[in-house]
Amino acid sequence: MPKRLYIDTVGCQMNMLDSELVVASLRQQGYELTTKPEEADTLLFNTCSVREQAENKTYSHLGVLRDLKASHPEKIIGVMGCMAQNHQKKIFQRAPYVDLVVGPGQLHQIPSLIDKVAAGEGRQIEVSLGRRDGSRVEIARSHESFDPLRDPEMRPTPFQAYVRIQIGCDKFCTYCIVPSVRGPEQGRRPEDILAETRHLADQGTVEITLVGQTVNSYRGQDAAGKSWNLADLLAAIHEIDGIRRIKFVTNYPKDMTDELLTAVRELDKVSPYLHVPAQSGSNDMLKRMKRGYTVEQYRDMMRRIREGVPGAAVSSDFIVGFCGETEAEFQMTVDLVEECRFKNSFIFKYSEREGTRGAELFLDDVPFTVKQERNNTLLEIQNRISLEDNQKQIGNTLNVLVEGISKAAAKKEDADDSPVVQLTGRTHCDRIVVFDGNRRQIGQILPVAIYDSASHTLFGEVITEECGSELFMLS
Ligand code: SAH
Ligand code: SF4
Ligand code: F3S
Repeated sequence: MPKRLYIDTVGCQMNMLDSELVVASLRQQGYELTTKPEEADTLLFNTCSVREQAENKTYSHLGVLRDLKASHPEKIIGVMGCMAQNHQKKIFQRAPYVDLVVGPGQLHQIPSLIDKVAAGEGRQIEVSLGRRDGSRVEIARSHESFDPLRDPEMRPTPFQAYVRIQIGCDKFCTYCIVPSVRGPEQGRRPEDILAETRHLADQGTVEITLVGQTVNSYRGQDAAGKSWNLADLLAAIHEIDGIRRIKFVTNYPKDMTDELLTAVRELDKVSPYLHVPAQSGSNDMLKRMKRGYTVEQYRDMMRRIREGVPGAAVSSDFIVGFCGETEAEFQMTVDLVEECRFKNSFIFKYSEREGTRGAELFLDDVPFTVKQERNNTLLEIQNRISLEDNQKQIGNTLNVLVEGISKAAAKKEDADDSPVVQLTGRTHCDRIVVFDGNRRQIGQILPVAIYDSASHTLFGEVITEECGSELFMLS
């Protein structure tokens, strides 16, 4: 009987991709996926450390498995990813029935580590060096990226794929754990990125999302020694047959060059959608966060985006309640959100992370209730803006990449038999569109006429069969 694998993934796109690669490597060892923990031989948790809540969730998931492991000691439980790197042996202390702890730089070792546990060699732990535990080269090497295998079944959909172009981060924003758990910033070789993208295109992938913590800071060197930036990569990927949309996340405001904006404007496969987190609207906060730019520079970047890529959608992240944030400073964030009119914003309450400069230098002194209030206030403002901007789309016809059956339709039991089903997809600008269609339209890019909107969803109707070019349909 084949072995069964249960895998739970939280965190960012990096983790989605990592899980895909781990699943692919275990499938090669004969594993099949299951969604039921009690049926699995191996249970893996791909974890995130960016906020305490994410870690607590993982510990509570692990807690639920205590009894299962007691009655089935042969089941292998593994914690991988950022929390494995962050907490290391502490995980064994808090959850003594965990067999494996594997950092994001050691994921390629998972099959052999599982074999060791199964052979009775006891608990296994493999993690990378800390950011102060060796030379830069040694540390970078210990955070190797793991990109050889792909498993189409683990992708968001069969026709969409993430491609890693960069690992790690060197920006060291004071609140952030990512540079510690993901190691030094390293650009992947352009040839490898292009070969992987071609391979994905051959398998039917139409949308590629390039991922990196600060994707627009990308620098890679090809075999001839030539240096590539993100604009170079976009131009090369644009030439690959079969690829119809190219996205990239997450951008760092300071590295949003005019050259990149020109590439986004001129390459029609590149989505006019930019996720560029601002984090705060106050210069003092940005300084304490060590973000490396001022609000004036962020505003100037927004102006260049609006002028350079007309019609582009911009989204952002904000942290509320970071150390010492006053009401007046929060108000500056509100003003920035009002002014920039982001398509959407992800808003987070500051969560102190042990080992970061922020935790060392500043007091986490904004009360939780104030963080909560500010979070709600900012979210309300953003939702109002998102709704107002979505309403402007009513009457437009937008090209939508059909991603699948909508959540609401998937819940309905009779969805399987009806020929017409509610579908969901995204525009070139990353707006979510819901409309009625049929299953064979999944994976196609279709023109949809928008007749209604909510703050995060547009509602529409397909008007004709698939259309070829997205050139003049920016939204
Ligand atoms: N590399 C990306 C984002 C990484 S984490 C970037 O630089 O934009 C995703 C988001 O989580 C960040 O943009 C930030 O808004 C939030 N975040 C990071 N650390 C946090 C912390 N300690 N508490 C709350 N939110 C945090
Ligand atoms: Fe974290 Fe800042 Fe790096 Fe983003 S740029 S991953 S927020 S340190
Ligand atoms: Fe979380 Fe690690 Fe991503 S800490 S946000 S999963 S890089």
